[in-house]
Amino acid sequence: MSEITPVISATGLYTPPETITNDELVASFNAYVELHNSRNAAAIAAGEVEELQPSSAEFIEKASGIKSRHVMSKAPTLDPETMGPRWPERSNDEISVMAEIGVKAAQDALRAAGRDPADVDAVLCAASNMQRPYPAMAIEIQQALGIEGFAFDMNVACSSATFGIQTAADFIRSGNARSVLVVSPEICTGHNNMKNRDSHFIFGDVATAVLVEARDMAPAQHWEIVGTRLKTVFSNNIRNNFGFLNAATPETIGTPDKLFVQEGRKVFKEVVPMVATMIVEHAGDLGIEPASLRRLWLHQANSGMNRLISQRVLGHEANDDESPTVLDTYGNTSSAGSIIAFHLHNSDLAAGDTALICSFGAGYSAGTVFVRKVA
Ligand code: COA
Repeated sequence: MSEITPVISATGLYTPPETITNDELVASFNAYVELHNSRNAAAIAAGEVEELQPSSAEFIEKASGIKSRHVMSKAPTLDPETMGPRWPERSNDEISVMAEIGVKAAQDALRAAGRDPADVDAVLCAASNMQRPYPAMAIEIQQALGIEGFAFDMNVACSSATFGIQTAADFIRSGNARSVLVVSPEICTGHNNMKNRDSHFIFGDVATAVLVEARDMAPAQHWEIVGTRLKTVFSNNIRNNFGFLNAATPETIGTPDKLFVQEGRKVFKEVVPMVATMIVEHAGDLGIEPASLRRLWLHQANSGMNRLISQRVLGHEANDDESPTVLDTYGNTSSAGSIIAFHLHNSDLAAGDTALICSFGAGYSAGTVFVRKVA
């Protein structure tokens, strides 16, 4: 029996309407710092509590390349008394927040492919955090879209979407599905510690969707999946200890290690060579000359990391055309980042162009998806 070829038929994007600029974020953070320092003045003077230092918009842009980010809940995130997203709790009869934005991104992808949801066989919700353990977000998204078949959640942090693409492609190759939606709703502000100066600026919120299908049912304009590869190497340098065994006690809720924490410098130093080597080796195995890649849609965590990775892959510093950024306006959106870059910056490529979607992040985890434009 000949193998069925999986392709990317379309992508979709949901961008929350509210944004927070670096200046707005820093004004809020610095108001929180002043409050903290004045409320704890005596303890700080006695050496019992650490005096907090202000943040700076110049530092943020220089260290990360981020200028602004889209968010789901602006006012509570900027309020020095809350410093995080808040929304009214929804009843079980209402669609949950993650599913709602996932559905919007999925509908965008289905529209772009001209696909009737009845023809989709499976939904994977691939994201770095799930709103609840069960029922799966993916099953709620499946139900809202009117899709039959099966759905499940998967979490590989910043690499969730590329791991989802390979999983979907494998389902198609094996004949277990012909049309699979990989949906990545990433509400990263909900697991960031907005009171931590080192990382309060990193994240934004978004949802993306990728429709992976058997070639014989895909629209004429699609992307051949030339090859996918996944890699994981355990590291504590990006970690979030929130979980069902520690979430329920007042002592543990909201403590710093139950949110995103990282050793940013170590991540930078260790992940850049790991990912650059992985891309070059995978390209070699596929018979692709790395320097010939028309575009790199890299994970959007830090502009410096992307500069170094693209330099090692292409042999020269990439320009915006070779390695477009969405980090400046979206911030780090975890697994959605490279998919946003692909979604927004692919229409100018020509038939036959070969390019790369690549993610990397906590785990460590990394995924490479080489694609070639068809028609
Ligand atoms: N405003 C002003 N100064 C700040 C600051 C802020 N918000 N945050 C940190 N600083 C200060 C630090 O205190 C430090 O001061 P010092 O030199 O006097 O000690 C200095 O700026 C440098 O801090 P550092 O944390 O070493 O910055 P960095 O250049 O490593 O940049 C990251 C920080 C997070 C942007 C960077 O390490 C990074 O992007 N790493 C990649 C990892 C990543 O993005 N992971 C996301 C998940 S995939």
